[in-house]
Amino acid sequence: MAPKRQALILIVLSLLTINTSEAATGGIAIYWGQNNGDGTLTSTCDTGNYEIVVLSFLTTFGCSRTPQWNFAGHCGDWSPCTKLQPEIQHCQQKGVKVFLSLGGASGSYSLCSPQDAKEVADYLFSNFLTGRYGPLGSVTLDGIDFDIEGGSNLYWDDLAKELDALRQTNNYFYLSAAPQCPIPDYYLDKAIKTGLFDYVFVQFYNNPPCQYSNGNTGPLLGSWDAWTSLVLPNNTVFMGLPASREAAPSGGYIPPNVLISEVLPYIKQASNYGGIMLWSRFQDVTNHYSDQIKYYVTKYMLRFVKAVSNAISDCVSAALHRFLPKPY
Ligand SMILES: *[C@@H]1O[C@H](CO)[C@@H](O)[C@H](O)[C@H]1NC(C)=O
Repeated sequence: MAPKRQALILIVLSLLTINTSEAATGGIAIYWGQNNGDGTLTSTCDTGNYEIVVLSFLTTFGCSRTPQWNFAGHCGDWSPCTKLQPEIQHCQQKGVKVFLSLGGASGSYSLCSPQDAKEVADYLFSNFLTGRYGPLGSVTLDGIDFDIEGGSNLYWDDLAKELDALRQTNNYFYLSAAPQCPIPDYYLDKAIKTGLFDYVFVQFYNNPPCQYSNGNTGPLLGSWDAWTSLVLPNNTVFMGLPASREAAPSGGYIPPNVLISEVLPYIKQASNYGGIMLWSRFQDVTNHYSDQIKYYVTKYMLRFVKAVSNAISDCVSAALHRFLPKPY
């Protein structure tokens, strides 16, 4: 092959690499499963709006409890949740990551010892992360989310370490945590300090000291800075927000135009900015929040790189057309 042609092909290949890395530069995570108005998992993923869908919640586990989950009217004793298997796989085929969330605002969960944390980790691993048959069918979920808001604050760091040990020796899966914005988070502080959470979905709502209110972004952005410097550089932080005013009775809703003009340009400057987390799919269906913000969640820097690389690759392909023989 002529060296000139080889060089051109190399350039084209490296431009393709830049294009594919774009997906990792800001996305939307959504909680699904607490209201029938969520619609199906399939329709949720078909919007194309989300990078991560978090199934909520596994509400009962730990201290020898028999694990139970609550997916509102979607499935339960009357209609086994194994019916979600094809929908979960549909989402994954579309490139949407599907996580299972532990905990939630109401439930019966806690861990009794480091040994108990190990047992819960083994339960989660074999039932949701191996493709073996479990409560959601034969699925390999992409991650486990810690939304711990009750029970005891002990041993959540042990659970993170046990899950990390499993992903180091098997297939990799993600870990995420959804703390409240006041620092330190009572339940998850110690776990977050392990540095093992790929994603930290901070809840900047129902938390007046660190949320947006009445046109004032100060407390919100101050808390954002504190969170992005508290976690490790390789722990990606998402700004967790209500998808409508009704989604957060104690406040924190940011009108989309304010988010786009005053909040996103600031928070995207953090090197460990990951995007926006929304609570929850039901309110996003009615308020079209993700539809309105999705084009602004991606980092400008990389949109710029992508635009430039597209322009260059247009030039290169025009040059290639002249250079290579026409196919007859
Ligand atoms: C982040 O990096 C630290 C090392 O600095 C490592 O121990 C940890 O596992 C990493 N976390 C993730 C989520 O990859």
